Amino acid sequence: MADVFKVGVAGLGTVGGGVVKLLLTNKDLLFKRTGRPIELAAVSDVRESRVAELGIPSSVRYYPDAVKMAREADVDLIVELIGGAGGVALDVCMAALNAGKGFVTANKAMLAHHGNDIGRIAEEKGLFLGYEAAVAGGIPIIKALREGLVGNNVSEIYGILNGTCNYILTVMRETGKSFDVVLADAQRLGYAEADPSFDVDGIDTAHKICILGALAFGVPIGLDALSIEGIRRISDIDIAYAEEFGFRIKLLGVGRRTEKGVSLNVYPCLIPQTAEIAHVDGVFNAVITEGDFVGHSMFVGRGAGEKPTASAVVADIADAVKHRGLPFLTVAETDVKSLPVVSLSEREGEYYLRFEVKDQAGVVADIARILGDEGLSIASMIQREQTGDTVPLIMTLHHAKEANVRRALEKIEKTDSVVRTPCMIRIERM
Ligand code: HSE
Repeated sequence: MADVFKVGVAGLGTVGGGVVKLLLTNKDLLFKRTGRPIELAAVSDVRESRVAELGIPSSVRYYPDAVKMAREADVDLIVELIGGAGGVALDVCMAALNAGKGFVTANKAMLAHHGNDIGRIAEEKGLFLGYEAAVAGGIPIIKALREGLVGNNVSEIYGILNGTCNYILTVMRETGKSFDVVLADAQRLGYAEADPSFDVDGIDTAHKICILGALAFGVPIGLDALSIEGIRRISDIDIAYAEEFGFRIKLLGVGRRTEKGVSLNVYPCLIPQTAEIAHVDGVFNAVITEGDFVGHSMFVGRGAGEKPTASAVVADIADAVKHRGLPFLTVAETDVKSLPVVSLSEREGEYYLRFEVKDQAGVVADIARILGDEGLSIASMIQREQTGDTVPLIMTLHHAKEANVRRALEKIEKTDSVVRTPCMIRIERM
C-alpha cells in the first residue's frame, strides 16, 4: 500500500466543508487518480461544532488554533480556507512553509498582497504551493496558464471574475430594477454579502486579475498600479441604453501586454451582444486569453460556492500528492520581472457617455463643442423627450484616447446645463 498523504484543513466554513466532503465522498476516485490514499488528518476552526456538523470522524485531530495546527500537525500539506489578506491566514501560511509543509490556499486577497513573498519562500524551500481556487473558483484557469498555455506568449487576459457583480448586472438587465434594489434582493437571497463592498467595488476582481496578470505576463503580483472601478455607478438607464446600442454591461478584470508595458485594471464595460462573454450571466465567471499560438480561448464556469471551489482546492491537493510542483507563477520567482505600467489614461478605445442635462436650447451644442475641442468624435447619440426639467443625453464616441475623454468630461461637468457628474463607461470589443 502506497504511503498515506496527510492533509490538514484550516477553516471549516463553506469551502472548507466542501473540501472535507469531497475528500470523503471521492476518496476511492482520488486514490485511483493519484496513486496514494489521501487522509484528512487534522482540521481547525474556531467553532468546534463544525467538526460534528460535517461528520468528520473522531480520528481526525481537531485544533482550535490553526497556526498551531500548521506548525505541529503531522501532515504533508496545509490547506488554508480562512480568508483575509493577512492575520491568521498569513500566519498559517508562514507556519506551514516554515515547518516544511506544502501549502494550498483559496485566498486571493492574501496572494494579491503577499503572493510574491509567499511564492519566494515556497520556492526557496522547494515546497508545494497551490492556489487554483483563488481565481474563478471551479474554473481551472491557474492550471491552464501554468500548464496548458505554457507555450504561448499571452497578450491579453480578461474576464468576469466576480459572480456577485455578474448576478447583479444580469438581474438589473432582466428586470429593469435599480442597482440598490437588486443588491438588497441579492443580499436577502444570500448571493451578496451583508457588506458587499469587496465585490461591488471591484476589489475582489482586482485581487484576481492581478494574480492572472502575473501568471500571464511574468510580472510580480501587485495591486498598486491597478485602477479599480466597481458597479455601484451603473444605473438601470445605462443597462437599458447599452442594450439599445447592441451591448451588455459586464464588470471585467482586464490585462494587456503590449510593447509599451503591462496594464491591469478593473472596470465595468459595454461588450457587444455578439461576443460570447456577453452571454455569461448570473453567478458564472469567464476568463478569456489571447495566446500567440493558441489564439483566443474562453473558460467558463462557477466562480464561487462550496462545491466548485472545493473542486479547485482538491485539484491542488492531488497535484501535491503527485509532487507536481510548478513555479509559483509561470516562471521561476527569480525570472519574474517588473515591466512598465501602461496607465489607463493612455487607453485608446470607444466610450459610452451619459449626461443628465437641463432640457434647454444649446445644451447639446455646448457638449459637442467641448468634445470636438478634445478631438472626440460622436458615433451615436440618443435624447428622448421626457417630462421634467432634466433629461438623459446618451452618446457613444469613436476611438479616442482616454486622457482626452477625461479632460472633456471635466469641462462638461463644469457647464451650467449638466446637473450631475457624467457617467463614462468604456466599450470593449472582443
Ligand atoms: N465573492 C466572490 C464572487 C467569490 O462573488 O464571485 C469569491 O471571490
